[in-house]
Amino acid sequence: MSEPSTLAGRVCVLAGGSGGIGTVLARALHAEGAPLVLGYRRARERAEALAVALRATGGAAVVTVGGDLADAATRTALVTAACELGVPYGLVVLAGDPARPASGVATQAEIEASLRDNYVGPILLARSFAAACEQNGTGGAIVLFSTMQGVALFEGSLGYAGPKAALVHGARLLAKELGGPTDVRVNVVAPGVTAAGMAEKSIRAGKYDRFVHGGAIRRFGRPEDLVRAVRFFLEPDNYVTGQVLTVDGGLTLRRDVVRQ
Ligand SMILES: NC(=O)c1ccc[n+]([C@@H]2O[C@H](COP(=O)([O-])OP(=O)(O)OC[C@H]3O[C@@H](n4cnc5c(N)ncnc54)[C@H](OP(=O)(O)O)[C@@H]3O)[C@@H](O)[C@H]2O)c1
Repeated sequence: MSEPSTLAGRVCVLAGGSGGIGTVLARALHAEGAPLVLGYRRARERAEALAVALRATGGAAVVTVGGDLADAATRTALVTAACELGVPYGLVVLAGDPARPASGVATQAEIEASLRDNYVGPILLARSFAAACEQNGTGGAIVLFSTMQGVALFEGSLGYAGPKAALVHGARLLAKELGGPTDVRVNVVAPGVTAAGMAEKSIRAGKYDRFVHGGAIRRFGRPEDLVRAVRFFLEPDNYVTGQVLTVDGGLTLRRDVVRQ
């Protein structure tokens, strides 16, 4: 008989857990026996359908919580739901918005909205979740989702990339503040162009083909590439905190850009 997973029975909150990448992560963690809180903003039916499918396996409990992460009530509801399922252990914040400007150049309102969606909500949820873990004294693992654009410079992404870069800094600050006897680790995954969720349509339209044809990457990312990275950070015995793992097939190395 195989050993039980080290995540079995460990409650994990997946904010944005019914999106493109989140769905694959939710299935993987649930298969390991982790009770899940799935957070969504607007797509209630999609989140409920995923919860129903996971419950149908007869495995660990799954609940859904709807609402905008920038609202304190949503963050409280997510942490409360985790405490009701058991002892909160893992938080993965996949919630994010591509913040595509309506007219090419991001307006003040669009940049402020991106800051709320991609920094304010995620970092405050991480702080609340860490406080719950510290209160329980049982440790925890927090993983925030940035982007390759938050760790390298890609043109035309001021509205999206700025707040995602701030998220990396905020995560490292939290990791530092949470040092000490209670082991709550905070790390960041920065995906490249991944064939799921918010990038799926653009990939199908050929927007990023130049990266493959120009030799920057050998293929587009898959959600499973990100699941492996998140799973590494969630491992209870993990000794890593305050770090960023860029999962982009080497795209940020820009092997396609050759010096003259
Ligand atoms: N796909 C990629 O290539 C790629 C590349 C780089 C970085 N990323 C990052 O990876 C993460 C997951 O991306 P994805 O492709 O899976 O995107 P997705 O399919 O659009 O999923 C995003 C999820 O976040 C939720 N969400 C968005 N804003 C929210 C808010 N303010 N409050 C609460 N929930 C919110 C959405 O809920 P509803 O749908 O219910 O509204 C959805 O469940 C994002 O942070 C994204 O920036 C993705």
